[in-house]
Amino acid sequence: MAQLFRPSSNTVAKVSIVAVVTLAASTLGVAYMADRGSWTTSVRDAPEQPVPFSHKHHVKDDGIDCRYCHGGVETSRFAGLPPTETCMTCHSQIWNNVAMTQPIRDSWTSGKSIEWTRVHDLPDFVFLQPQHPRE
Ligand code: HEC
Ligand code: HEC
Repeated sequence: MAQLFRPSSNTVAKVSIVAVVTLAASTLGVAYMADRGSWTTSVRDAPEQPVPFSHKHHVKDDGIDCRYCHGGVETSRFAGLPPTETCMTCHSQIWNNVAMTQPIRDSWTSGKSIEWTRVHDLPDFVFLQPQHPRE
């Protein structure tokens, strides 16, 4: 009977098995990285904000309580963003003549809110959270 496969077919078979397995593994690996990586999640990206607001300066250096600006944080799922009025309690007096804080004054005089870019968009685990009794 004529020979169906040449001897070299053994090598071809082995190599193709390795190739298929490697391709499948690397496809999964790339998909995993694309799903978890900062390219999708934007972790460590600092979005451009209308005012270069610094939590480090306000909280760490100046000691302002989070709840001074994020008033609703203990009763809502979203940190919430402070109204311009909150910034003006200090910035009508201090740092009130520099370009950096100009958008705050513009917002105050025009009555138009500062358009902050939302940083966090996490899934809502509402059903998993214990309900805290309100004080
Ligand atoms: C309780 C007072 C207080 C409030 C409220 C406050 N700031 Fe400030 N802010 C400061 C002080 C003090 C500094 C400057 C000193 C520093 O660097 O710590 C400052 C500095 C700044 C600066 C200059 C850059 C920097 O970080 O040093 C910007 C911009 C700014 N604030 C934006 C804001 C915005 C926007 C709000 C409202 C969401 C706000 N601030 C609310 C006290 C305040
Ligand atoms: C002086 C006002 C001020 C104080 C104090 C402050 N924040 Fe903020 N926070 C802001 C402003 C303005 C933004 C929107 C701009 C930004 O993302 O930096 C913000 C954004 C945030 C966000 C993102 C909200 C979102 O969904 O985009 C979180 C989370 C947050 N703050 C947590 C905190 C915590 C925790 C503290 C206390 C350790 C704190 N903040 C204290 C003004 C403040």
